[in-house]
Amino acid sequence: MKQITVIGVGYVGLVTAACFSDLGNEVVALDINKERIAGLKRGEMPIYEPGLEELVQRNIKAGRISFTTSYKDALKSAEFVFICVATPSGVDGEADLKHVAAASRDIAKNMSAPLIVINKSTVPVGTGDWVADIIKQHQPKPIDFSVVSCPEFLREGSAIADFMNPYRTVLGSLDEEAADMVAQLHLPLRAPIVITDLRTAEMIKYASNAFLSTKISFINEIANICESLGADVKEVAAGMGFDERIGPDMLNAGIGYGGSCFPKDIKALAFMAEEMSIEPRILKAVMETNAERRERIINRLIEVIGDLKGLNIGLLGLAFKPNTDDMREAPSIEIAQKLIAQGARVKAYDPVALEVARPLLPKVEMVDNAYKLAEGCDAIVINTEWNEFIQLDLEEIKSKMKQPVIIDGRNIYDPEKMKALGFIYRGVGRGYNNDRDLIKKEIIQDHVS
Ligand code: NAD
Ligand code: UGA
Repeated sequence: MKQITVIGVGYVGLVTAACFSDLGNEVVALDINKERIAGLKRGEMPIYEPGLEELVQRNIKAGRISFTTSYKDALKSAEFVFICVATPSGVDGEADLKHVAAASRDIAKNMSAPLIVINKSTVPVGTGDWVADIIKQHQPKPIDFSVVSCPEFLREGSAIADFMNPYRTVLGSLDEEAADMVAQLHLPLRAPIVITDLRTAEMIKYASNAFLSTKISFINEIANICESLGADVKEVAAGMGFDERIGPDMLNAGIGYGGSCFPKDIKALAFMAEEMSIEPRILKAVMETNAERRERIINRLIEVIGDLKGLNIGLLGLAFKPNTDDMREAPSIEIAQKLIAQGARVKAYDPVALEVARPLLPKVEMVDNAYKLAEGCDAIVINTEWNEFIQLDLEEIKSKMKQPVIIDGRNIYDPEKMKALGFIYRGVGRGYNNDRDLIKKEIIQDHVS
């Protein structure tokens, strides 16, 4: 059993705290947000993440996890402290490190014994050294400490499973003893452990997120080409994915990536490159392709139903991905705003993100199920591939709609089945207008003539 302090109880911090306590460690989780900590003490989760509430409550009962807003209390007997605070985008796309700086200062002022400070927040290359400087400068008296980078690779919606079964653990430190102690902490996860220097570990995190977003923008570009040539991007992706060098993941074409990390991390990496006078050509193309996705879905809708003024449009799904209530950089926000700007009346349904979405989309009427959403709609746009949407009674949905138009930004339905049900259905990258035979003939004719 180790004594662990986790700073920040958001998506990463709370999962880290809960999982380490479940692995038998004694964990104190700290946040400056008093409401979050008061709620956690009552057993209420500040975020929606499947399985998190049970995990936290089990470990509260076992006495292995506690919550505080006091750095002094949190660091009293800590051997390891994990920094898990947010690193949002700054004005020029750089990572804003104010929360990391504040946490580092408070660690310095309140530590009373030697400590290993482990950074889990996604931070620009060089931040680990900078954190060490901040701690040195703010310690009232010198106490030994070491800074180790341990970037987090979990995904929202499957955070606990990802934390407990990572593809790898990356540790960055030149202090071999500290790196080894942090490695010991991660041994129960039974994943390969990559030990490297601080800067390389920090870069592994950015490079990984950048590569995953590149895959998404790549398949979205392929989807555009598929649409014009009558191919089906879902089948193309499946066919590609069997090649182990490519792999099947991150090849779902759609309305583009959103969320609290890909958008900000790609921007931050491009910023780092430009600061060093390196032109981040691929990263810029990835961002441009992603930005076009929202526009494209609106254009598709207009192609099908014409001028949007006065029409009722339903948004099925608001969260940036399924199984989360996270609305940060959710594509649905921009899509809703664009629809409203064009004069449409917009309503929305999401299984868990409605409350988080309400203040962000004050002009959108929120309803509490998919069938209410369908009532009187001229079209439905699907933004999030929640499981519960896959088994909807589509006959009933159709019967409630004014016009049976579905624009599916996540390709959750089969175009042929939708056509047979009488929908005017458009997916992403799936043989434009569903008239594949017609398109094929045109292409053949082009080549013959
Ligand atoms: P979040 O916004 O959900 O949570 C951050 C928490 O830190 C908040 O509760 C906030 O009140 C608290 N906080 C801010 N300043 C503090 C301070 N000085 N002291 C104590 N607490 C403080 O953020 P998140 O999504 O968990 O992301 C945290 C970091 O992890 C980011 O760098 C992010 O890029 C990275 N990351 C996130 C994910 C993810 O899926 N969300 C995955 C991997 C890595
Ligand atoms: C992502 C990474 O997958 C994690 O490894 C990383 O730790 C995390 O960012 C982070 O650094 O915060 P997350 O954002 O939770 O995790 O979710 P993903 O499942 O990766 O999806 C990100 C976005 O890409 C979503 O908007 C999703 O809809 C979109 N996406 C994903 C696609 O459009 N197509 C895909 O094939 C996969």
